[in-house]
Amino acid sequence: MNILLLGSGGREHALAWKLAQSPSLAKLYAAPGNPGIAEEAEIVALDVTDHAAVIAFCAEREVGLVVIGPEAPLVDGLSDALRAASVPVFGPSQAAAQLEGSKGFTKDLCQRAGIPTAGYVRTASLEDARAALARFQPPYVLKADGLAAGKGVVIAATLPEAEETLADMFGGAFGGAGAQVVIEEFMEGEEASFFALTDGTAIVPFGSAQDHKRVGDGDTGPNTGGMGAYSPAPVLTPQLQARVMAEIIEPTVRTMREEGNPYQGVLFAGLMLTAQGPKLIEYNARFGDPECQVLMMRLESDLVGIMLACARGELAGAEVTLRDETALTVVMAAKGYPGTPEKGGAIDLSGVEPGAAKVFHAGTALTDGTLVANGGRVLNVTATGASVSQAQARAYAAVDAITFASGFCRRDIGWREVAREAAA
Ligand code: AMP
Ligand code: GLY
Repeated sequence: MNILLLGSGGREHALAWKLAQSPSLAKLYAAPGNPGIAEEAEIVALDVTDHAAVIAFCAEREVGLVVIGPEAPLVDGLSDALRAASVPVFGPSQAAAQLEGSKGFTKDLCQRAGIPTAGYVRTASLEDARAALARFQPPYVLKADGLAAGKGVVIAATLPEAEETLADMFGGAFGGAGAQVVIEEFMEGEEASFFALTDGTAIVPFGSAQDHKRVGDGDTGPNTGGMGAYSPAPVLTPQLQARVMAEIIEPTVRTMREEGNPYQGVLFAGLMLTAQGPKLIEYNARFGDPECQVLMMRLESDLVGIMLACARGELAGAEVTLRDETALTVVMAAKGYPGTPEKGGAIDLSGVEPGAAKVFHAGTALTDGTLVANGGRVLNVTATGASVSQAQARAYAAVDAITFASGFCRRDIGWREVAREAAA
């Protein structure tokens, strides 16, 4: 079977690497791709916002499955266009992708379905939002409703700060994403991520992970797309995972189906493990980046088979098997990230021993045969081990074998678990 993979990040390199291992893959195409993805796939020039062009490409190259990596094409309705043209696609419809595309949509769904999450108010004007603040205690959690590239959530410590943030949000700081704002209760606890596949009816757990959103060691500095991750997240015990499935994932999938928006693809739940149990922070309609990299490192099952089962509505009875080991990834970013990253810095990966770690490319480019930085997050240096401590040591040994003078990384990915392992 020929497959078309859309996206250009570390997530998509990990997907490409795993898809390429499948015995049922004939030819893998990717757009826009990156130099790492190019090792596994033929890169093709395709504008993913031009749905007719994507459909025409699939017909011409006999593509039997399209895998959509990032959220933007999902929220833009590419899956619907492909399904209407009878092209199997891994990724939810535009209506179902509202679980990521509209925070207010998800909060309302949680309320209808009795899913544990923070109490909230959905507001459509600055006036309403300011009035609603009186119903909350600091810190105030303020969220632009729409997609805001991971920057639409502000936690304001004081009332004046919250009012200023609301003025920014309604003033257009997040473009159309801020036309509505959700105000939420602040939840205390440790965060973890849980992934499940669904074809709209059947649900198969995919596994857990924890990421590190802040740019600096010790979880300091501004938020990023994620500076590293590991899987599994031992804090999400089998008992807690069973609760997440029963109290959060199953009612979500059921309610979406019953309301006429069946969800097909991977559901990525961001969770807060509170004293009262796991509560939903938010959903994403895709794999996490860099969480996908650590999940793919551990995946034993055939990725093509499970994605096709999701796309065809044949997931019942399928299983996802992950190896019983820890995978940990360290993001190497270009200096300046998450502000303006320095582009063009040379990268030499030749020191990394093959087999010791897998380096997934994110923002890289080839310039005259030299690998250079071409984005904020540049590389995902990923290793496995019998414990988080061991996977961490191996990942950093590989990081230290890489020459990337204009890059940086956190030195403490996995610190919570490493501390717990040391204390055990
Ligand atoms: P994201 O929506 O992924 O950009 O994440 C925003 C981050 O804000 C989450 O990862 C949490 O750390 C935090 N957050 C979001 N909602 C809440 C909440 N209700 N209570 C506490 N922290 C929150
Ligand atoms: N790493 C978080 C995300 O992909 O949204």
